Amino acid sequence: MKRIGILTAGGDTPALNATIYGAVQKANALKIEVAGLIRGYAGLLDPRLPHVMLNPLFSSIPELDPCKGGTLIGSSRTYVDSSDTATLELVKQHVRKLRLDGLICIGGDGTINGMQAIAEMLPCVLAPKTIDNDLGLNYIDEPNEWVRTPQAAAPGYIETRRRSRDSLRLEDIINYATPGFATAVFVVAQMVERLRTTAESHHRIAVVEVMGRQSGYIALGAAYAQPDIILIPEVPVNIDQLTQHVARLYDQQQNVVIVVGEGVRSDDGRELGAAMATYDPAGNIRYSGAADALVQLLEQSLGDEVFAETRAFEPGSSPLFSRKVGHTQRGGRPILFDRFCASQLGGKAVELLVDGHSNEIATLQYSEKNGFTFSSIGANKLRDRWGEIHPREVHPSLYDADRLQLSAFGMEYLKPIFTRSVGADDVEYIRREVFDAGCLSNRYQSINTDIRKRIRYL
Ligand code: F6P
Repeated sequence: MKRIGILTAGGDTPALNATIYGAVQKANALKIEVAGLIRGYAGLLDPRLPHVMLNPLFSSIPELDPCKGGTLIGSSRTYVDSSDTATLELVKQHVRKLRLDGLICIGGDGTINGMQAIAEMLPCVLAPKTIDNDLGLNYIDEPNEWVRTPQAAAPGYIETRRRSRDSLRLEDIINYATPGFATAVFVVAQMVERLRTTAESHHRIAVVEVMGRQSGYIALGAAYAQPDIILIPEVPVNIDQLTQHVARLYDQQQNVVIVVGEGVRSDDGRELGAAMATYDPAGNIRYSGAADALVQLLEQSLGDEVFAETRAFEPGSSPLFSRKVGHTQRGGRPILFDRFCASQLGGKAVELLVDGHSNEIATLQYSEKNGFTFSSIGANKLRDRWGEIHPREVHPSLYDADRLQLSAFGMEYLKPIFTRSVGADDVEYIRREVFDAGCLSNRYQSINTDIRKRIRYL
């Protein structure tokens, strides 16, 4: 193997450069050239094949900084459709032109679908990334739990799942955590903690919306900031139960902090914040505001009495407010845990290619005995019997649906990830960089400008 390509596809995470860095370090050691394809699959489809040689003479270019968020080679949500033979033929020609012997795709489920078609003509390996932590399995046979029932009246089917296991063993989880997840939780936990003191001061109820699509892992991780209530998409919200919880807590402490995963549903199955479908092949939904919807519901269900004794809110104002953590969850410097896992997974992806694997995913595994280790799984093992990859859901054993909180086992799941997840250098970075006087006088130097000087075309 002389030259491999690498690309980043889908939404960014803080750990993408760390994955690329890990792959390039391993490639340097093995004397393999690495071509970074610009803007994900879009670069591979572009007839001019924009690319950057990331390790000329087998040493990394200085712009490749594992501590910097985002991706120096850019990302896009363009994917390769496996039924589009004309496009696939184009990819084949482009791969030949660039003399690639293998390809590493850094991405999530949509990226795997794009990779599958290319894997027929070129060895391809996925290095996982997603802040949502939804790429993987709770246990190996999980995809077989999905059942499709044809609808009598209309074309199509209803998809349901029959859970085969009530409990979970940490060592069975395939891809324990995905790079980007820990940093997203780090950002969320700090925001929740800050919102708490303002909610306390003004006797308010804060509803904080976090990302994660249909998976509630980021919301669960927010438990480190001690919110009073956590709502996850996997467990439909019962408004009566929620209202009782909120009223009781407000009575006790005159403030409540609720963390809600953006894909949360009401118990009639409606996604509270669903807005529109995005254009990636996973058919993902773009969420507009689950927290806003919840605030409205709670305003109606709580009534004024709950607040009457504590504080007379000015006319037109509300004791409830919502805030989205938003894209800050996806940006900025990755914390130590993410940097470590991402760079190891990047290196593992190179090893897998060298060992002759294709359509394979590098994975992070955990066991109490061995700690974190790196392994792999065939991409098709993530598919159900119809070939679909489902986002990994929070297993019921990780969440206490009566208390609307992380369960005791959920704590066991989070601890290995977060206990030593922040490095001394992460803290030192804040002390040194945030109020560096140079920031006031120097213009921001974008990586896009630097890398543009290195882009080559065929
Ligand atoms: O999948 C990552 C993610 O950040 C989700 O958590 C979120 O719903 C989505 O991407 C947002 O996508 P976009 O940046 O395209 O709005």
